[in-house]
Amino acid sequence: MLVAGNWKMYKGPGETRDFLAAFRPPDGVEAVICPPFGSLGAAVASGRTIFAQNVHWEDEGAFTGEVSTRILLELGVQGAIVGHSERRQLFGETDETVRLRAEHALEAGLRVIACVGELNEERERGETEDVLRRQVSVLPEHEALVVAYEPVWAIGTGKTATPEQAQEAHALIKSLLDVPVLYGGSVKPENAPELLGQPAVDGALVGGASLDVESFTAICQAAATPS
Ligand code: PGA
Repeated sequence: MLVAGNWKMYKGPGETRDFLAAFRPPDGVEAVICPPFGSLGAAVASGRTIFAQNVHWEDEGAFTGEVSTRILLELGVQGAIVGHSERRQLFGETDETVRLRAEHALEAGLRVIACVGELNEERERGETEDVLRRQVSVLPEHEALVVAYEPVWAIGTGKTATPEQAQEAHALIKSLLDVPVLYGGSVKPENAPELLGQPAVDGALVGGASLDVESFTAICQAAATPS
């Protein structure tokens, strides 16, 4: 099982060092921390597995505000999230840019967590399967690729998919692409055992609850001892 903490735009280098000094993930789970760009160096120094929250598809160039695979690799970063719904909704990320980012990062030797997931309106209109098929269709099959199913209506809202909804979406994704699939969207210590206990759930991508060392450790614990 893989449990990744997506810190979004929280925690500078000082808070990052404090968190990682206190963080002792249990055996039997791979814990990954994804801090903001400015805290990557401090995070790597802890010796933990560190991923970035995004990565560009060119090696270098005039791309203000972006970061390259080369820079991440030089820092000692091992992977990157691509296609997070906040990138898609707030920063104009499309299936095509997600494809470019994922392909280039994998070619460069980074691991990738590619996020997919439907909006609330899409679920209500019965379009979840179509959306997931479309978003997954651009991703390459690769041993270093992991998909995160994050229903957008469950991110940061306190609403989670039911274990049955997660299982159904994960099974669909796995039928399209033979990769591990993480669940994301309001994962907390209280709901982690049931979600992680679903057969097609291979781990979690955790936002808010990854900012607190105790709650993130508890989620890692649930992944290490699935119910
Ligand atoms: P959340 O965020 O756990 O705060 O809902 C998940 C994510 O955005 O990856």
